[in-house]
Amino acid sequence: MSPPKERVRIAAIGDLHYARPSRGSAQPLLARIADEADILLICGDLTDYGLPEEARLLAREISGAVKIPIVAVLGNHDYEAGAPGQVREILSDAGIVVLDGETCEIHGVGFAGIKGFGGGFGRGTLGPWGEQTVKAFVREAVDEALKLETALARLRAPHRVALLHYAPIAATVEGEPREIFPFLGCSRLEEPLTRFPVTAVFHGHAHHGRPEGRTRNGVPVFNVSLSLMRAIDPAAVLQKLSGEKRGPGGGGIHDHAGRRRRTSRAGHSAGPRRAGIAAGAPVTSGSEFDPLPIGKWKVTGIARRPAFHYNPDSFWDADPSHAKATIKPGSNNPVGSVWIDISKPHYGLHGSPEPSRIGKSESHGCVRLTNWDALRLAALVRPGTP
Ligand SMILES: [Fe+2]
Ligand SMILES: [Fe+2]
Repeated sequence: MSPPKERVRIAAIGDLHYARPSRGSAQPLLARIADEADILLICGDLTDYGLPEEARLLAREISGAVKIPIVAVLGNHDYEAGAPGQVREILSDAGIVVLDGETCEIHGVGFAGIKGFGGGFGRGTLGPWGEQTVKAFVREAVDEALKLETALARLRAPHRVALLHYAPIAATVEGEPREIFPFLGCSRLEEPLTRFPVTAVFHGHAHHGRPEGRTRNGVPVFNVSLSLMRAIDPAAVLQKLSGEKRGPGGGGIHDHAGRRRRTSRAGHSAGPRRAGIAAGAPVTSGSEFDPLPIGKWKVTGIARRPAFHYNPDSFWDADPSHAKATIKPGSNNPVGSVWIDISKPHYGLHGSPEPSRIGKSESHGCVRLTNWDALRLAALVRPGTP
C-alpha cells in the first residue's frame, strides 16, 4: 500500500486496443500521463484480440514509459482469444494491478474493479426468464455486480473509486446506436455504486458515448474510452479527479457572467478563425428576465476548470443577504468544466454540472452547454474566433 498523499491526481483511460501494429504508439500518451498524474487507471480492452503477445508488447511499452502505480480491469476484447488468465498474468508481472472483484489502496484512495457485463438499462434491463442462455447472460451481469458489491464493502479508505469496463449507467453510452445499448453495460452494475460511499466511477467500452454522467444518487461516472477522449478534445486525453482538496490547476478564475479576473490557456498560437458554424449542440440560453443577447462578438479567452465567483449583486433573483462566495473548480461548479469568454462583458459560453437540464431550464443570459459539448466547442475555437 502506497502512503496517503495530500493531493492525488488520477488519470484514467480505457480501450487502448493494443495490437502488434500499435508498437510505440502508446508511448507519448503514457509518458504524458506519467508526468501529470499520481495513479493511472486503465478501464479494459487493453489488448485488441486478447492475445498474450499483445499483452507482452503493451506491458513492455508501459514498463518503459510509466513509473506511477497502474490499476486496471480487463475488457471483453481481452477475453477474445480465450486467454484472459494469461493476459492478466503478463500485465501483473509488469507491475500492473489487475482487479477482478479485488481491491487495492494507493495514496489513501481505495479502488474496486470489475469487468462488468451487458444487459441493458432501466426498464429495458434483461431479466432472467425463459431460455437457459438468457438466464446465463443475466447471471453474468448479476455475478459481476455482486463482485463489485463485495469489493466496495471491503474498502475502508476515505476516497473510494470504482473502475469497470462496461457502463453502469445509460447516460455515458448516449451517442452510441440505441440498438447496442444492452451490450454496452447494465443498470445492475449501478446498484452497488448507490449502496456504498463512492467518490467516482470510471469505465470504457462505449467508444462513442458521453464522457460524464451520474448514478441516480449523484456519484460522477466518467466514460474514459480513448477514442471518446480524443473526439472531445484531441489535446486533452486525461480525465483527472482531484477530490475536494484542489483542482489540477490550469483553469482561470471568473465571476459569474464573464466578469473575468483571469483567463488562462488562451495563448494558442493559431490566429483567429473565419466566421462560420463550429458545432451544433443543445443549449440553455437566457430567460424572460435575462434574455440571450443578440449581436456579434469574438472569443477572448478559454478557461478550463474555472472557479466560480458568486456575487448576489449580479443576479436580479439573488437574496441580497447572501455573502459573496467562491466555488472551486470541480463537478459541482455552476459553470462546469470550461468557460469560453466573449467580447461582450459579463457573458460567455460555459459547461454545466447538470447535463439533464440543458435545453429545459433557463439561464441568466449566458449560453450553457453540457460539459462535453462545451469542451468540444472549446477545442474548436481560439481567442479571436468570431
Ligand atoms: Fe473497446
Ligand atoms: Fe469493450
